[in-house]
Formats: sequence, C-alpha cells, structure tokens
Amino acid sequence: MIAALQALKAPSGRPYTIANLIASADGRVAVQGRSGALSDAGDRVIFHALRERVDAVLAGTHTLAIENYGRLVKSPEARARRLAAGRAAEPLACVISASGSIPLSIPLFAEPQARVVVFAPAEPDLRARRAQVEFVRTDPGAGSPLSAALRTLAGEFGVRMLLCEGGPTLLRSLLAEELLDELFLTLAPKLAGGGEQPTLIGPPPLPELLALRLLWLLSLEDSLYLRYAIGTGTAEVRLR
Ligand SMILES: NC(=O)c1ccc[n+]([C@@H]2O[C@H](COP(=O)([O-])OP(=O)(O)OC[C@H]3O[C@@H](n4cnc5c(N)ncnc54)[C@H](OP(=O)(O)O)[C@@H]3O)[C@@H](O)[C@H]2O)c1
Repeated sequence: MIAALQALKAPSGRPYTIANLIASADGRVAVQGRSGALSDAGDRVIFHALRERVDAVLAGTHTLAIENYGRLVKSPEARARRLAAGRAAEPLACVISASGSIPLSIPLFAEPQARVVVFAPAEPDLRARRAQVEFVRTDPGAGSPLSAALRTLAGEFGVRMLLCEGGPTLLRSLLAEELLDELFLTLAPKLAGGGEQPTLIGPPPLPELLALRLLWLLSLEDSLYLRYAIGTGTAEVRLR
C-alpha cells in the first residue's frame, strides 16, 4: 500500500507532503518527553517504509534535538533499493527554524553522507559539520517561511514527496497553512493521561475543525495504523 505513494502527484509549486506520527490512544505523542515508549514493530515498519520512499524528510528543531536525529536511512539494503528506484541513497534532511537555533550537535550533522538543508533567518556556523549542509535564508517579512521553504524544496532541490516527522508545533504550522496532504497516524494501545506531554497538534487550536478522510486502516496485534487524507476533497490518491 505504501508503494502507492510513488503514484501521487505533487501539488503545483510544492512537494506532496505527508506526516507520520504515533500517539497514545488518548492522543499524547510523547511520554517523559520522548516518543520511543509509544512505538512498536508495526510503527517501525511504516516509519522506515515511508523514509525509504520520499525525497526529503522535515522535522522540527525540538524533535531533531530530543530524538537525537542521525542518518535517515541506515540499512544498506534500503539505500540500495532507493538507488535502484532512481532516488538518492537517502532523503534530503530538512530543518526549519525561526529563531536560528539549530541543534548542530546531533549525529545528523556529523555524518559525511547526510545531505541537509537548513532554512533559517541567519546562517549558523556550519564549518565544523561533516554533513553536506546547504543553507537557505528565510525572510519572515516576505510571508510564511514554511510555505516558502516547501516551494524552494520543490523548485530548487527537486523534492516531489516530503515526509514530515513532527513534532506537534511543526505539524500545526503545516495544517494551519494548508500545506499537508496526508497524515499517517499510529494509534498505540497505551494511555498516557493528562499533564504537560504534547498532543498530536500543538497549540493554539486550529482556526476551524479540520476534516480527515480515512484512506486505509491496518491493525497489528493491538495497534491501529491509520492513513488519512487532509480535508474531504478528492485527493489524487490511488491505493493498492
Ligand atoms: N509521537 C511522535 O510521532 C512524535 C514525533 C515528533 C516529535 N514528537 C515529540 O514532540 C515533542 C517535540 O515537538 P515540539 O512541538 O515541541 O517541537 P517541533 O515541532 O519538533 O519543533 C518546533 C520548532 O521547529 C521550528 N518550527 C516549527 N514550525 C516552524 C515554522 N512554521 N517556521 C519556522 N520554524 C518552525 C521552530 O524552531 P525554532 O525554535 O528554532 O525557531 C520551533 O520552535 C517531543 O516531545 C518529541 O518527542 C513525537
């Protein structure tokens, strides 16, 4: 079913954009600050399958730091499959920041084969980084930096399929700016309870209730794996 992603059409001017997150049954996306305790074998299959099939992966700066991002596709077999499918060996890693505070000490920036593009208002000091990093200056005075970043990814980096891996702050921006086409959501058979831990979409509330259309629903053991189109319109989605 995930193979069908290849058939999707990118909207004009920006990549076809999907998000993949996991939440507890009561909607929390982190436990004690991290998502790992929620994950399971099925979630990891979808997580890696999506990374294998996209041109680029976007994550918020907090997620990059907290989840200590490294190389995006570690398996040699998966890298070979990407090359055989005409893609780069691994997706372009995309970072966007309004503050300019990029978590440069994460393993991703130390990996010589990693390709990274940083969107920020000022260039960080990238001299000691071993990754192949490109910097794109954002201009908050010229409209939404996120929307501009997605257009740059499509126009200058050839990104047709973009995967957002969260977190809730970035996901909210994508939704509020109508930049997200699909949501892959794993519903973990766990309850986290109330408190400070983040929910799927960060604050403030979206301007209006956003409808989702269920494209498929899988289950494995006690977990549910949901694939939604954002909105109720007829997306150009072909499923196998
Ligand atoms: N369960 C899951 O699947 C999952 C997935 C991901 C993350 N998480 C959890 O979520 C938490 C982190 O999420 P978070 O919401 O705090 O942070 P986040 O979304 O990972 O990162 C937020 C930061 O990203 C940058 N950013 C986001 N939207 C932007 C925009 N429109 N323009 C410019 N910059 C933008 C900003 O960076 P600057 O501050 O540098 O300006 C912002 O402060 C962690 O607990 C993590 O474990 C869970």
